[in-house]
Amino acid sequence: MRIAERIREISPFFVMKILAEAKALERQGRRVIHMEIGEPDFPTPQLVVEAALAFIRAGEVKYTPSAGLPELREAIAAHYERHYGIQVPAERIFITPGASGGLLLSLGLLLDKGGQIALADPGYPCYSNFVRVFDGIPCLVPVNETTAFNLDVDLLRNVWNDRMTGIVIASPANPTGAIMDPQVLKGLLDYVHKHAGYVISDEVYHGLEYGECGFHAPTALKFSSRALVINSFSKYFGMTGWRLGWVVMPEELIEGAERLAQNIFISAPTHSQVAALASFSEENLCELERRRLLFRERRDFLCQGLEKIGFSIRAKPEGAFYVFADCSRFSRNSSEFVMDLLAETGIAVAPGLDFGIHHSERYLRFSYTLPVAELAEGLERIEAFVQRRAPAVPLKLEKLC
Ligand SMILES: Cc1ncc(COP(=O)(O)O)c(C=O)c1O
Repeated sequence: MRIAERIREISPFFVMKILAEAKALERQGRRVIHMEIGEPDFPTPQLVVEAALAFIRAGEVKYTPSAGLPELREAIAAHYERHYGIQVPAERIFITPGASGGLLLSLGLLLDKGGQIALADPGYPCYSNFVRVFDGIPCLVPVNETTAFNLDVDLLRNVWNDRMTGIVIASPANPTGAIMDPQVLKGLLDYVHKHAGYVISDEVYHGLEYGECGFHAPTALKFSSRALVINSFSKYFGMTGWRLGWVVMPEELIEGAERLAQNIFISAPTHSQVAALASFSEENLCELERRRLLFRERRDFLCQGLEKIGFSIRAKPEGAFYVFADCSRFSRNSSEFVMDLLAETGIAVAPGLDFGIHHSERYLRFSYTLPVAELAEGLERIEAFVQRRAPAVPLKLEKLC
C-alpha cells in the first residue's frame, strides 16, 4: 500500500505522544496534571445539552442544507451585530464541522497546486498541514515579542511573492494568546488585498479575551468584506466535541463554497446545530461570562507563578487559554524538558516544537484549562523539578531574530 506523497510531510502532534505517556502514567496510578490540552475543562452547558437531547428524541436527525440551518446562520449574524456592531448577511455564513472544517473548506476553495500561504511561526500547526493537503506550500514567517508574536506588514512584505495565495492569521492566537492590534490587522488586510490575495482570519478564541469584557479583539470583518473569517463553537462556547464552527465567506466565494461544502461535508452535524442555537440564550451567555472570568483568574495566577519560578513570558497572553513560556533558563531543548517534566513530576505540557520551527526549543505551551488549585499544585511540582536541575547554558537572546 502506498500513501500519498503529501501525507508524508504532515507532521504528527508531539503533544499526542505526551498525552499517551500521561495516560500510561495514570494507568500506573500516578496523578497527572494536564496542561497540554487545548480544550476548556467546563462541561457543555446543561441547557445546550437539553436542547440537543430533545431534538434527538424527536427523531428528525437528518441532513441540513449544506451551508447550515437557516436559523443558526441568522443567530450568528445577530451575534456579530450584538458584539461587534457589524451587519453580516446570513447568506455569507457557512456552518462547518468545527473550525477545522472551516479551514478545510476555505483552503480548498483558494489553493492551487504550489500556491503559498504565509503563516506566523509559532502558530497553530494544522494550518501548515491543511495547506499541504491541497498541495500548497506553507511559508513560515518567524515572529517574536517585537510584534507580539503576530505577523505584520513589514514581515509579510519580506516574503510576499507571485505564488502567494494569501495568509492565515489568528487573534487571539494559539499558542501565545496574543491579540492583534486593530491597525496591524487593517494593514495586513489592505496589503494582501492590494496584492489580490486572501486573508483567512481565524477567530476561534474570540470572546475569550481578558480585558474588562470579552469580544474586544478586532474581527477582520470590521475592516473588510473580502476576508474569510473562521470561528467555532469549541472554545468560547465550550462545545469541542460537538464539532461545529462557521466561516463568514466573501460574497464572491459563496457559490464555490456551496459546491465544495456539499461535496466534502454534505452538512455539519444536525443535532449540534440545534444545540448551538440554544447557546445564544441570555442564560447561557451569563454562564459563559462567568467562565471567561475564571479563565482570566487562572491566566493571572499561572503567569505570575511561572515568572516567579524563572520562566520568561515574552508577551503576556491577552486571550485564549495558553501561556507560551521561554524555558531556556532551564533547558536548551524544550522537547526533552517536557518528557523529563512528565516522567519526574507528572506534569504534562506541550513543547514549542508543536507550533513551529523558529526557536521552538526555547518554548513550552501551558494550557490553563484546569482550576486554580490544580495550577497551584502544578506550579509547586514544576518549581521543585527545576530546582533539582542544573541551570542550562544560556541561549543568547540576540540569536532570536
Ligand atoms: C487556532 C485554532 N484554530 C482552529 C482550531 C480547531 O478548532 P475546532 O475544534 O473548532 O475544529 C483550534 C483548536 O485547537 C485552534 O487552536
